[in-house]
Amino acid sequence: MAILKIARMGHPVLREVAAPVADPTAPEIQQLLQDMLDTLEDADGAGLAAPQVHVPLRVALVQVPAERLEQEGEDDGPGIPLTAMINPVIEPLSDEQEHGWEACLSVPGLAGSVPRFTRIRYRYQTPDGDTVEREATGFHARVVQHQCDHLDGILYPMRMDDMAQFGFVQEMQNARRRNTEDQANGQATD
Ligand code: NI
Repeated sequence: MAILKIARMGHPVLREVAAPVADPTAPEIQQLLQDMLDTLEDADGAGLAAPQVHVPLRVALVQVPAERLEQEGEDDGPGIPLTAMINPVIEPLSDEQEHGWEACLSVPGLAGSVPRFTRIRYRYQTPDGDTVEREATGFHARVVQHQCDHLDGILYPMRMDDMAQFGFVQEMQNARRRNTEDQANGQATD
């Protein structure tokens, strides 16, 4: 078991276009996936891309428990089982985009509202070398787009179109708590 160090925004590896993996079944790829899984479990994120652990290859993990989809208001979803994507490719299924809040292990402490395609098809190779194709909507589609962006050197703040919707998670939670308390006390807050 190895928990890898996570690169933070500003490290050049996060801006590189990652290289395709020639052989998804190679032992070094299996080892990388195991280490990335250990790192993801330790960090408690929805996904992790290889460039985030200083490896510029087109490899990413996504995993979203059903409880998380519930928080996102998509409680009919069964969650996204742990998926290792090698050489993933995304195709939007419509032009429609929606904004949603994202955070990133490489941008610690912050969150921002990011426009993403609402419906996508994505294709990737598995660690067994098989090719899999899936369709995704909503938060599932968002997580996959966020991870695949990492493979092209793109971090979510670079996708944002309203920097007023960007801030420290702790401050936003404090503000929400104060709002709720004020409402409970019957005070006007503006
Ligand atoms: Ni990220």
